[in-house]
Amino acid sequence: MTQVFEHVDLTGRNSFHVKQHAARLVEFETAEELRALFAGGAPERWTVLAGGNNILFTRDYDGLLVTPVSQRIALLDECGGEVRVRVDAGVEWDDLVEWAVRHELWGIENLSLIPGKAGAAPVQNIGAYGREAKDVIRRVEMYCVESGSMLTLDAAHCEFGYRESIFKHALKGRVVITAIEIGLSRTPQPHLGYGDVEREVEARGGATLRNIRDAIIAIRQAKLPDTAVLGNAGSFFKNPSVELSVAERLQAEWPEMPLYPSQEAGKAKLAAGWLIDRAGMKGYREGSVGVHERQALVLVNHGGATGSEVIALARKVQAAVRDKFGVEIDTEVNIL
Ligand code: EPU
Repeated sequence: MTQVFEHVDLTGRNSFHVKQHAARLVEFETAEELRALFAGGAPERWTVLAGGNNILFTRDYDGLLVTPVSQRIALLDECGGEVRVRVDAGVEWDDLVEWAVRHELWGIENLSLIPGKAGAAPVQNIGAYGREAKDVIRRVEMYCVESGSMLTLDAAHCEFGYRESIFKHALKGRVVITAIEIGLSRTPQPHLGYGDVEREVEARGGATLRNIRDAIIAIRQAKLPDTAVLGNAGSFFKNPSVELSVAERLQAEWPEMPLYPSQEAGKAKLAAGWLIDRAGMKGYREGSVGVHERQALVLVNHGGATGSEVIALARKVQAAVRDKFGVEIDTEVNIL
């Protein structure tokens, strides 16, 4: 059922916990409710606010926010070794991972403890520990505001890239994701190649789904601040892709600098966290905002920060990296 809130306090609805208000917020469950909501035409300003984990409000929002709250996870079918699961947009992503682990279904265990809702997963193609949402997403269901109809997009048309998708570009502001369909496997497919994952999994007795989930949770909890305790939006910046010549020049000067293959030809990916750290900004604090002391990619609200203070800090971090390395780092967080 639709729930409507007027002049709503967003503090508890964004993981940065910045205190801004929205003129109107509507929680919806079904596509029919969305159709009714947009029946008289879309308001001038509207956007989707899902878990609020990748968004920074820098001012009050004078439009309409729509929030999915539907909670179903349904087994669809099993075909060619793949188990298809349909997940409502309002399901907490990590509840889905726990559900999959309980059902002995492989594919998303490395994405344990990523905050946010399932409907937001395709938007920025969430990823961690060598896996991305695009590895399992098969189809995305959405309501198209212009046509008033439902649309289903196969993964091949979602233009997935590193923290990228069509939902951040051509479909931005035009659709509301209502569900995703993912493909999981009953056959063990452990991916332990990233960082400390293998060691942590072995320490727990080997590569079972439960051990991998527990290991990932432990690694994340050791590095990333809990949004319930310290307001933040995970990685504030994306790891930058640079020309190979730039990467080589930097690595000649800093041989210990991490370097990853890029999905773009002729480019390499750098670790923004490393760059920020070496630029001396890790743990930097200014009033109520700061750079997290254990993971330099994360900006935190120590309490009472405004969105503008966070932005000012982000600009300072970007400038420090630019000055030291000549590299631009872009924000991953959606700034409103
Ligand atoms: N590093 C530092 N100092 C720091 C942080 C990182 O030197 O303060 C170094 C690390 O030692 C490592 C390298 O930078 O050599 C990369 O660090 P890490 O493995 O922690 O991963 P990341 O590149 O910082 C990315 C994702 C995270 C994801 C982890 C694990 C991005 C922007 N971030 O971080 O995603 O959890 O890999 O896969 O791609 C998120 O998107 O919100 C997020 C947390």
